[in-house]
Formats: sequence, C-alpha cells, structure tokens
Amino acid sequence: MIAVLPGDGIGPEVTREAVRALTAAAEKTGTALKFEELPFGGQAIDETGGPLPDATLAACRRAHAVLLGAVGGPRWDALAPEVRPERGLLGLREELGTFANLRPVRLPASKSFVSPLREDLAGGGFDLLVVRELTGGLYFGDKRRWQEDGVEGAMDVMSYAAPEIERVARIAFALARSRSGRLTSVDKANVLVTSRLWRDVVGAVARDYPDVRLDHMYVDNCAHLMVRDPRRFDVILTENTFGDILSDLGGGLVGSLGLLPSASLGEGGPAIYNPVHGSAPDIAGRGVANPVGAILSAAMLARLSLGHEDMAGLIEEAVWRTLDHARPADLASGDGRRPTSTGAFGDAVVEAILGGEQQGETGRGRPGRDGWPAIERRLQM
Ligand code: NAD
Ligand code: IPM
Ligand code: MN
Repeated sequence: MIAVLPGDGIGPEVTREAVRALTAAAEKTGTALKFEELPFGGQAIDETGGPLPDATLAACRRAHAVLLGAVGGPRWDALAPEVRPERGLLGLREELGTFANLRPVRLPASKSFVSPLREDLAGGGFDLLVVRELTGGLYFGDKRRWQEDGVEGAMDVMSYAAPEIERVARIAFALARSRSGRLTSVDKANVLVTSRLWRDVVGAVARDYPDVRLDHMYVDNCAHLMVRDPRRFDVILTENTFGDILSDLGGGLVGSLGLLPSASLGEGGPAIYNPVHGSAPDIAGRGVANPVGAILSAAMLARLSLGHEDMAGLIEEAVWRTLDHARPADLASGDGRRPTSTGAFGDAVVEAILGGEQQGETGRGRPGRDGWPAIERRLQM
C-alpha cells in the first residue's frame, strides 16, 4: 500500500497527476498497486485539529512508501510553530526516521532551453544530486522565544552528533561512487562549530571511500558556484538548513522549482517521496501548477521503494517526452503558445506511459516492503 498525503494548496493538484502516472506505469508493467489517501498538513488541522493525525501516521508506518504533495498556506500562518502544517511534515520525517533527503537536480540536454542560464552553461543539461541531512540541525534543536525587560528575543539551536553526520555522509559517498566519483561537502566551517564537526566526520568517512574525490566548500561560495559553474558539481552533501536553500537554488538552475522531485530515506520504515516545492498558494486552485516534480517523485518511489526500475524508467521517459510538446505555465517560453494545464500535462504523461516502450530491466521481485536493505541495493551502495 502506498500512503498518499496530498496536503494543501497545489499539493492535491500535483499529487493527483503523480498517482495517475504511477497507476498507468503499474498497468503497463502488470503490477498491482493500492493507494490510501490520508489527511495531512493544513487540511488535517481543519479536519482533526492537528497536522499529523494518529491515523495518518499509523497508515504511513504500515505503507510500503509515502507519496506526499505539499503542506502549508496563509490560512495557517498565524498558528504557533508547534501546530503549523509544516510541523506535521517535520513530525513525519522524525517519526519515520528519514534522515537522508535525496534531491536530484536534473534536466536532460534536450530540455536545457527551459533553464535561465546561458547556453554555454546549461546546454549540456544538469545532473546534480543534493543529499540533505533531514532530521537534525536547526530544524530539530531547542527553540525558544522570550521577553526580558521589555525586549523580545528568540533562539533556534543548531546541533549535530557525529553519528547523525556519519550515516548521511555514507549514503552520499556511496551515491557519489555510483555516479562520477565526485562529492562536495558543504558547510560553514569558517564560522560554525557544528560545521567543524561536520568536516571532521565527513573527512573520516572519506577514508572508507578512497575512490571518491571529496572537496569541502563553504555554503556561500557553493551558492555562487552552482550558478556560475554548475558542471563542477556532482553530489553535494550538506546539513538540513543549507540543503533546503541549495536545493531551491537547484530549482532555479533548471528553470523551475516545479521540476524537482525528492526522496527521504531512513534505515527502517517507509521512505517519503514528494516534490521539492511547497503548496504555492499564489497559484493554487487554478490548475496551472507544474506536476513534473510530483510525477518524478513517483518515479523515484517506483525505483527505490518498489524495486520497479521499469516503472520508474517509463515515467521519467514519459515526462521528458511530454516536455517536447507541452509546457506548464512556469516554463512557458513567452513564444505565444498557450501553457499546458496541470491536468492536460498529466494526461499527456499517462498517454506517453501507456504508449511507451518499456525501458531497462523489468521489476525485480514483488513491490514489497523489503525496506532499507533493498533501498540500499537499489542505490547501488
Ligand atoms: P513554494 O515552493 O510553494 O513556491 C515558491 C514559488 O514557486 C511560488 O511562486 C510558486 O508559485 C512557485 N512554484 C512552486 N511549485 C510550483 C509548481 N509545481 N508549478 C509552478 N510553480 C511552482 O514556496 P513558498 O511560496 O515559499 O511557500 C508556500 C507554502 O508552502 C508555505 O506555507 C511553506 O511553508 C510551504 N512549503 C511546503 C513544502 C512541503 O510541504 N514540502 C515545501 C516548501 C514550502
Ligand atoms: C522542504 C520544505 C520544508 C523544509 C518546510 C515546509 C518545513 O521547505 O521540504 O524543502 O524546510 O524542510
Ligand atoms: Mn524547502
């Protein structure tokens, strides 16, 4: 069973297309899939009083994987941090122990025209991978807000324990090994003591991966070089907050945040798959959201949690082929052609999947909950 948490804003709009793509790929490959839709985020606050209802969490724990849309919106922005929709997302990551967040920043060379970068930088396309630590750092440290002698103050504590760094570093090294063998660890070691520890631990893990070329870079310079010289990067490993920011920058590189998928992996239970973008209240309800990030997240789910490389390949091929002739509004070229609506883009993807050639090897074994060992194998670790 796949737990589907559409969430708020454009979450339900793009998740619907991701489920349709997954269903079409399952049909094409003769795979049986079951979905269970659950309230989450702002929608769950309205229905149940909290962003992560017990029944939703229980269903996620039972699931083979979680497919999520996005949460949040102005309607819930005035709520206290501990009861906001976003807290539901952090709670889900924490409860499922998904400490490694994989955010591929990909654009095939044939689609480089949607990138805002110059042809000489974007022409070859992009294929970076941001590996973001997801259950530590500022997001999960102590928080406090106070008033003293009429002056307000607040703090968020950033802390990391060495094992938290080591486990995500090992995943990044293994992924770098299976790709180009280059890994950039990003920190702020010139200022932050957590970054000093980060650098030490990553350096120690590097001894187990002598074939991976590791370099360390300050996060400010990384933001600069990702735009100026994106080809110098392959796998980027970084802590929670820096990874949040650099991955949105990746969205800018390829032309829109709406293109980026993600997978959040832990060592035990089901993984979470969702587009990198948020609930986009500015465009919600108009049927104009780009569903590509959500659909590519479904492909990652098929590959990593179901072991169905065949389904993943079909979905990815279908997305790129659809972009040959259809462009959602965020990628509209200003050439006067009408942008393609979310639903029409999803229709074209489904059609391309059903009419597509099966790519790669067929799915090994059952779409089962064989958990971390299987995901590890599928990541080629
Ligand atoms: P956002 O990612 O929702 O939107 C940023 C900009 O990108 C907006 O202009 C939006 O229209 C555009 N955009 C995003 N996704 C798009 C898509 N698929 N197609 C076309 N355009 C797209 O970020 P934000 O505006 O800073 O945040 C809005 C809300 O989403 C906030 O409540 C925030 O907390 C929440 N949020 C949730 C998640 C999540 O659930 N994973 C992630 C990020 C932000
Ligand atoms: C993301 C989002 C979340 C984050 C928010 C909504 C909590 O921005 O997944 O990138 O900061 O992790
Ligand atoms: Mn973010």
